Amino acid sequence: MMKKNPGARLELELTVGEVATRSGVAVSTLHFYETKGLIQSRRNRGNQRRYPRVVLRRVAVIKVAQKTGIPLADIAEALSVLPHDRPLTAKDWQRLSETWKRQLDARIASLTALRDHLTGCIGCGCLSMEDCPLRNPLDMLGEKGAGPILLETDEEVNVS
Ligand code: FES
Repeated sequence: MMKKNPGARLELELTVGEVATRSGVAVSTLHFYETKGLIQSRRNRGNQRRYPRVVLRRVAVIKVAQKTGIPLADIAEALSVLPHDRPLTAKDWQRLSETWKRQLDARIASLTALRDHLTGCIGCGCLSMEDCPLRNPLDMLGEKGAGPILLETDEEVNVS
């Protein structure tokens, strides 16, 4: 019978400093990710965090998603269905990246519309509730149907 190597598990694990060095992400950020459930560690006998080596790919995915402006809560939700103890597969990445690409496309479309309306306002300055598309976002966005709201209404601004 073959003896198990007790050091094998340790070799597969990384300290938070090692994860920080290899991923280029600050230790404080890694701790933050962990509090949000994006990554997971276990505690060793000395109560120190130990991360599975596969966390590096997970952190890389988180960073890429953040670069595209995906909110951390959305990233956490997308990753929540993927186990922490196995590497993300090409299929996992394909599913995640397709979802985030759709979100990115929608944001680009919203920002493009906002920019175009802003262009019309340059040099005007009326800020009319009736005529200015930036002041009257409900009419402007109402034509687009349900979806993200680009601008605060006066009621939202005055709530606090
Ligand atoms: S400021 Fe006049 S249309 Fe927007």
